[in-house]
Amino acid sequence: APVVVAIDGPSGSGKSTVSRAVAARLGLSFLDTGAMYRAMTWWMLANDVDVDDADAVAIACTKPVIVSGTDADGPTITVDGQDVSGPIRGPEVTAKVSAVAAVPAVRSRLVELQRGCAEVAERGIVAEGRDMGSVVFPTATVKVFLTASEAARAERRAAELRAKGLDEATITAMAADLARRDAADSSRETAPLTQAPDAVLVDTSTLTLEQVIDRITGLVEE
Ligand code: ADP
Ligand code: CDP
Repeated sequence: APVVVAIDGPSGSGKSTVSRAVAARLGLSFLDTGAMYRAMTWWMLANDVDVDDADAVAIACTKPVIVSGTDADGPTITVDGQDVSGPIRGPEVTAKVSAVAAVPAVRSRLVELQRGCAEVAERGIVAEGRDMGSVVFPTATVKVFLTASEAARAERRAAELRAKGLDEATITAMAADLARRDAADSSRETAPLTQAPDAVLVDTSTLTLEQVIDRITGLVEE
């Protein structure tokens, strides 16, 4: 059976960077499922859906066509054919994505797309998010739960935003939002962020990116 590597953890633990590098190194596809929840949220905001109204979100969520390109060397995300890789990282989407992701109809639709991506991946896939090991790929070859201290995660996120040229007020607001989003993602009823019983815990607080990538590559090659 093709390899499935499931990587979950809170924001800023290193999931995207590490998963992409592991996929590139092993010649596997790469899927950023957070980008799909962000793309759904972007579409809701662009179409004036009240994202705090779970019923409205549930009704609207079948409409956008979300396509994830899973090449580890250049992942892409489109909504109705439009490249949204930039706008989905903005503060408006980031502030609302947890609310949209808590709606069961949104999750069942995106989970179906995610499993479809794994099915067509030629050699296998590294999929990262919040519920890869617990819900989407329960029989994954390797499951990893990535964590890091809240301080380390907030600092990484801030450094990233600073490099993008965002102003300090926005950076401070997004750091506060990170803690709020983690709490929301961990406490929601449907598919909360939790470590699957068979997932390997990797705390990246004091590890370099190289060390984390080596560790996970090693787990897959075992
Ligand atoms: P996530 O997908 O879990 O939110 P990212 O992969 O986006 O996390 O990582 C957030 C930032 O932290 C990136 O800028 C990344 O380069 C950096 N980073 C990730 N892991 C480490 C690590 N072990 N050491 C130092 N920086 C890291
Ligand atoms: O970039 P960051 O790590 O902060 O977040 P992300 O991975 O892009 O995910 C954005 C949001 O999508 C999360 O805060 C969750 O609310 C949601 N998400 C989810 O519910 N399930 C997933 N498998 C992936 C993301």
